[in-house]
Amino acid sequence: MTTILRSNGIDNSPLQIFVKAKKKINDIFTEIEDYINDTVDYMHEIENEEKIVSKGKVKKIEDYVNKVRSIREVLARDHMKVAFFGRTSNGKSSVINAMLRDKILPSGIGHTTNCFLQVEGSSAEDPYLTLEGSTEQRAVESVGQLAHALCKEKLSESQMVRVFWPKNKCLLLRDDVVFVDSPGVDVTPNLDEWIDKHCLDADVFVLVANAESTLMVTEKNFFHKVSTKLSKPNIFILNNRWDASATEPEFLDQVRRQHQERAIDFLVKELCVCTTKEAEERIFFISAKEVLQARLAEQGQTVSTPLTEGFQTRYFEFQDFERKFEECISKSAVKTKFEQHSQRGKYIANELKDILEEIYNEALKLKEEKLKLQKEITDKINYTEQQLLMVTQEMKLKIRNMVEDVEQRVSKALTE
Ligand code: GTP
Ligand code: MG
Repeated sequence: MTTILRSNGIDNSPLQIFVKAKKKINDIFTEIEDYINDTVDYMHEIENEEKIVSKGKVKKIEDYVNKVRSIREVLARDHMKVAFFGRTSNGKSSVINAMLRDKILPSGIGHTTNCFLQVEGSSAEDPYLTLEGSTEQRAVESVGQLAHALCKEKLSESQMVRVFWPKNKCLLLRDDVVFVDSPGVDVTPNLDEWIDKHCLDADVFVLVANAESTLMVTEKNFFHKVSTKLSKPNIFILNNRWDASATEPEFLDQVRRQHQERAIDFLVKELCVCTTKEAEERIFFISAKEVLQARLAEQGQTVSTPLTEGFQTRYFEFQDFERKFEECISKSAVKTKFEQHSQRGKYIANELKDILEEIYNEALKLKEEKLKLQKEITDKINYTEQQLLMVTQEMKLKIRNMVEDVEQRVSKALTE
């Protein structure tokens, strides 16, 4: 269903929730960055003119420039991460290939995954890989080459090899989903190291189980450890190799019910990570091998092989898994990846507002002080003027009296 709508050009994939949220939060931080840059410019302009902006305040705002820049860098790298675990040969690599619609990861006999492999989208035209601790890009043209490159290296099982696959070849990679493939949980004693190194930032875990057997203690133990380190991890359980059930149709319902009940008990009662209703939406019976074959044939990469009984139902169930997985990873990643950033953005915007308000209040105070001073000076001038006026009038009077007195005396002297 997802494929049909998306190939019609209407992108209604649930992954768009993340893609759109990422764009939005990026736009918001671009605005915050512009706002801070304008503020810094303005502060530098007025810094020397008046004593309303202290050096401390300028420094505080300048520091936000770097903080916002590093948040934007983290945001640009943010992605949705899904990690696949399960016993060796259960089909982890095959499930990833089926979802990516291409034989990207080596799988099958002789191609046991012996280190962590992270597949992520790249803007480069050709795929390449990098080894842990190095940035050297090694070209990979085919799965065979990738497998060969991995065999040559002496990789330890907890090492991470990053495979960069062209985004334009796969919608999931274009929409920022990163896939992590792992060696079988039964091959290592270092589960804690695995979890600490590769799992703490995963948004979704997929347990690839083998529908031909039952959930194993090693698989359960791994997820017990995961759920002690992460609160309520999102776990999907894929009962892979369900095509095997076609050979024994009389037991199909019974076996399915048994697997379903055990898986629900595991998620709900043992791990306590979800409710029974939620668990029912997290357990699927699929065949990764068939889906991959069908998709490769659809794309004309291989010739179609005869379909096993019940293929269509398993194919639909795989698509149902993909849809629910996309919804879950998208919502979870928005929450875990963006919630903190948006709070940080709010905090920075508030701090800026407070500092600018302080500057505004300081400016107001200065203006009032100046006005007061001006009024005092004017009052003083007026008073002095009045005083002067009074003094001059008094003087005038005195002088007139003196002159009259002198005149009188002079004329009196003259008549005598
Ligand atoms: P490791 O990397 O060794 O841990 O194995 P893995 O879990 O990655 O399994 P992988 O995908 O390599 O598959 C192992 C073998 O099982 C391959 O030969 C696949 O073709 C086969 N296989 C995978 N999925 C299915 C399936 O649904 N049905 C059947 N019949 N075979 C499958
Ligand atoms: Mg593998």
